[in-house]
Amino acid sequence: MNYDIYRFGKIDSTNSYLLKLGEKGFPEGTVAVADEQTSGRGRFGRKWQAEPLSSLLFSILLRPAFLPRDEVFILTFSAAVAVADAIENVTRIQSELKWPNDILFRGKKLCGILLESNFEGDKLNYVVLGVGLNVNQTVFPEEITASAVSLSMIAGRSFDREEVLSSILFRFNENYQSLKSKDFYSIMKRWRDRSFMFGKRIKFNVAGREFEGTLDEVTDDGAISIATSSGVLKFTAGEITISEISGPGTGGMK
Ligand code: BTN
Repeated sequence: MNYDIYRFGKIDSTNSYLLKLGEKGFPEGTVAVADEQTSGRGRFGRKWQAEPLSSLLFSILLRPAFLPRDEVFILTFSAAVAVADAIENVTRIQSELKWPNDILFRGKKLCGILLESNFEGDKLNYVVLGVGLNVNQTVFPEEITASAVSLSMIAGRSFDREEVLSSILFRFNENYQSLKSKDFYSIMKRWRDRSFMFGKRIKFNVAGREFEGTLDEVTDDGAISIATSSGVLKFTAGEITISEISGPGTGGMK
C-alpha cells in the first residue's frame, strides 16, 4: 500500500474527512493527520479530546475488498498491534492491549482506535481507521486525568510525533499485507501476547446490559469469552471495565 498523506493544522475530524474522501473514490492508503481536531470522535459517540499539537491524530482510508463483512474486526486488532509495536520501537515503552481496541499503560488510556466501515449491501466498500495517541501531553482535562496517560508522562521526555507516525504506518502496512493471505492467527497471537486482561475480573457492557465474570479468552475471530456464574458467554462487541486489578499491570520500559 502506498501512503498519500494529507496534513492539517486544524480539522473537524480526520475520520470524518476520510469518510468523505472514501465516498469520492480516493484510493486506499490516503492518510489524514492533524495537529488539532474540533470534533474528534471516539467510540460509542464519545468526544475525543486532545490539546493542539500534543497528540498523534490520524486516519487511514482502506479498501480491503479481500475481507468479508464478518472479518472487518481484524483491522482494529492489526492496528492496535502496529501501534503497540511502534510505541515500543520508538520509546521503549511496553503498552498493554485492552479488548477490542484500546492501548493502555498501567490501566490508563494511551491510545484509542475508531474503525468506521462503509458497505454496499454485504460488500465492503471502504473503511476508515482512526488513531488517537497521547504523545506529548503533560496534563489532561480534569474529567480524564485519572484515566489517561501520554508517552511523555511515562518516559519523562517528549517524542517526535512524525517519527511515531511513520513507525505506525510502516508496521500497519506489514500487518495489512499479511491479512491479505488470511494470516489472522499471527495478528491475534501478537495481540494476545500484549494483552494483560486474561484471568482478570471484568464487567462487560453490551447493548445496555452488564455481565460480570473472568476474562477467559479472545479467539481468532476477535470475540471475547467471559466465564460467568451462569456459564461461558461469548461476545463480539461491547465494552469492558476492569473491576479488579490484581497487580500494577504489565506495562513498563524495556
Ligand atoms: C476511542 O477510544 O473511543 C477511539 C478514539 C479515536 C480517536 C481518533 S483521533 C483521529 C481520528 N479522528 C477522529 O475523530 N477519531 C479518531
